[in-house]
Amino acid sequence: MSSENFKIPNSLNEHWMPFTSNKDFKANPRLITEAKGVYIKNHKGKTMIDGSSGLFCNPLGHGRKEIIEAITKQLETLDYCQPFQQGYGGSFELATKISRHTPGDLNRIFYTICGSTAVETAIKIAIAYHRAKGDSKRFRFVGRERAYHGMNIGATSVGGMINNVKTFSSVMMPGVLHMRHTHLPEHKFISGQPETGAEMAEDLERICQNFGGENIAACIVEPVAGSTGCLVPPKGYLKRLREICDNHGILLIFDEVITGWGRMGSAFASQEFDVTPDMITMAKATTNGIVPMGVVACKEEMYDTVMDASPTGAVELFHGYTYSGIPISVAAALAVQDIFEKEDIFNRVKGMVSYFQKGLMSLQDIDVIDNIRGYGLMGGIDMKLNTKPGKAGFECFKACYEAGVNFKATGDCLIIAPMFISEEKHIDEIIDKLRTGITNYSKNLKN
Ligand SMILES: Cc1ncc(COP(=O)(O)O)c(C=O)c1O
Repeated sequence: MSSENFKIPNSLNEHWMPFTSNKDFKANPRLITEAKGVYIKNHKGKTMIDGSSGLFCNPLGHGRKEIIEAITKQLETLDYCQPFQQGYGGSFELATKISRHTPGDLNRIFYTICGSTAVETAIKIAIAYHRAKGDSKRFRFVGRERAYHGMNIGATSVGGMINNVKTFSSVMMPGVLHMRHTHLPEHKFISGQPETGAEMAEDLERICQNFGGENIAACIVEPVAGSTGCLVPPKGYLKRLREICDNHGILLIFDEVITGWGRMGSAFASQEFDVTPDMITMAKATTNGIVPMGVVACKEEMYDTVMDASPTGAVELFHGYTYSGIPISVAAALAVQDIFEKEDIFNRVKGMVSYFQKGLMSLQDIDVIDNIRGYGLMGGIDMKLNTKPGKAGFECFKACYEAGVNFKATGDCLIIAPMFISEEKHIDEIIDKLRTGITNYSKNLKN
């Protein structure tokens, strides 16, 4: 349906929208009616550039024919196949392809439904692995402040965003500890990795000393924290986390739901920062975001340990989902893998990074901007506080939407993540429209 004859549904009351200010939205809806390439169109017929690849999940652009065709063909031959004690060829083919890109020997692939379920699965695999080794006392997990790992109980517990936890604190996982985040006051207007702050990794050592490293199953971090505004790890930080984990027998999990599949300029942030974790979680770009899929890649030795601990014929891991690696998601992911290869996507991103980062930093003269940072094709723009936390971010998001650029704002941070298929003219358009939107927001403040 084209935007011209689109009608707002009679009632907006029944749909309780996720992570949305429902009252504000329903008073002034922002409905998207079409999406093609790097552009989306709203119900008023306005075309906007997509400045955050949807929710960081559509980096190959909207309406990709190859993916649509792959899904359609799959639905016509095998629309569903139960994933427990049965399988079909595609999921194995995809696991082989994914394992060609994962670092080290993270070659064993478990499918989930989304990023949250990938994180929860990684938590369970960590416990199952230690138990299989006869080490069942490790029950603690270490996360980090300002982390976002998803919204089920496991992922919320290891996450570090206070608003996501407050209401639900009574049902959070026990035994979870948090390191401090790595975004320091001196990290102002830095593109790339900050030189200072590696010592924040010592928080993990301190936790080991205070709670017993031998009680900790795993430490989970986003190599670059995405949803809280592109917090880039200081130089040496991730390497030090790896060392501390090794010293205490703790598994290191990189949550690469956003950073995975090219956003940092390498297939995974792990390769970009040259640190190999024991597990990687991924989702989003795996299917170009158009059908749900999550993935956990884990080390061969971990898989072997869990397999060897069970008698032949028994289920080795009591875990899985109705939608683990279902044909429609696998078909999309296989088509995505083809596009990565044919269009040399990771190198393409690498080639665009400095252009994007320069554009982003060019906004620093705008008076209402407090800070800008970025890595790869991702950046965060912090807005100065406007009476209460979150107001500046939301008002600015709305002003930018009016100016013709759409993105995700978290609190007072605008998160910009252009598509991997972007050309320089698209980056220019995003930056120009950000300048217009943020400046308009600033003018409104003064009036
Ligand atoms: C790093 C990270 N992990 C996990 C998730 C949760 O993914 P999902 O929303 O697919 O459950 C997200 C979502 O943004 C994420 O950014």
